[in-house]
Amino acid sequence: MRRIIITIDGHSSTGKSTVAKQLAAELGYIYIDSGAMYRSVTLYAKENELLKGNSLDKEALLKALPEVQIEFQWAHGVNKTILNGQDVSEQIRRMEISESVSQIATLPEVRAKMVDIQRSFGVKGGVVMDGRDIGSVVFPAAELKIFMTASPAVRAQRRHSELLASGQDVSYEAVLENLQSRDEMDSKRSVSPLIIPEGAIVIDNSEMNPHDQFNMILQLAKDRIFGRI
Ligand code: DC
Repeated sequence: MRRIIITIDGHSSTGKSTVAKQLAAELGYIYIDSGAMYRSVTLYAKENELLKGNSLDKEALLKALPEVQIEFQWAHGVNKTILNGQDVSEQIRRMEISESVSQIATLPEVRAKMVDIQRSFGVKGGVVMDGRDIGSVVFPAAELKIFMTASPAVRAQRRHSELLASGQDVSYEAVLENLQSRDEMDSKRSVSPLIIPEGAIVIDNSEMNPHDQFNMILQLAKDRIFGRI
C-alpha cells in the first residue's frame, strides 16, 4: 500500500496536533510535531541563559545549535519530545515558552536545521507532520496538504481551557493576546511565513465537530492512498 506524506499547517490552537495524531494512529504512520522542535530550541536557549526575557544572544545560540539534539519517542500512543536526552514534553508547553518561541522560529539558521531533521523523517513516507511551513517548505510535494484555521476567539477559548486543565493559571485575555501576536509574527516573518501552501485544502473548524473533521481528513487521505486522486 502506498505510504503518503500528510502535512497539516495552520494557525496555532486549531487542533492540528490532535487530528494529526489520530490520523497517524489510524493509518499506522508516524506523527511529527514540528512546533515541538522550535519549542525545544527555545527551552534550550532559556535553560542556557541565551534567552533572558526578550533578549536573545543570537550568536551564542547559533554557535550552540550543533549541540541541540531533538528526538521523538512513541510509546503506548504517547508522543514524547526528547531534548538532549531529557523528556521535555511538558516543559515546552508552558506559557513562557509560547511567549518566546516565535522569536526563535524566525532565525533562518534554526529553521534550516529543523527542516533538515523534518525531511529525514519523510524519506520513507508514512508520515503526518503538523506545523506552519510543512506543506509550503518542508514537503511541497506531499500527497495531502491541509491548512487549518478557526476564529481567534474560538482558538483562545480552546487553549485557555487546556492551560487551566493542566494547572496553569492564566487569563483568557493573556491567551488571546499571545495567540494573536504569534499569528502576526508567524505570518509576517520573512523566512518561511505561515501561508496556505499551494494545493492545500483549507478547513475552518470554528464550528466543526472534531469527529466530522477527522472523518473528512481521513477520507481525503484514503482517496490518495488508494489512488482515487
Ligand atoms: O504548533 P506550535 O504552537 O507548538 O508551534 C510553536 C511555534 O513554533 C509557533 O509559534 C510557530 C513556530 N513553528 C514554526 O515556525 N514552524 C513550524 N513548522 C512549526 C512551528
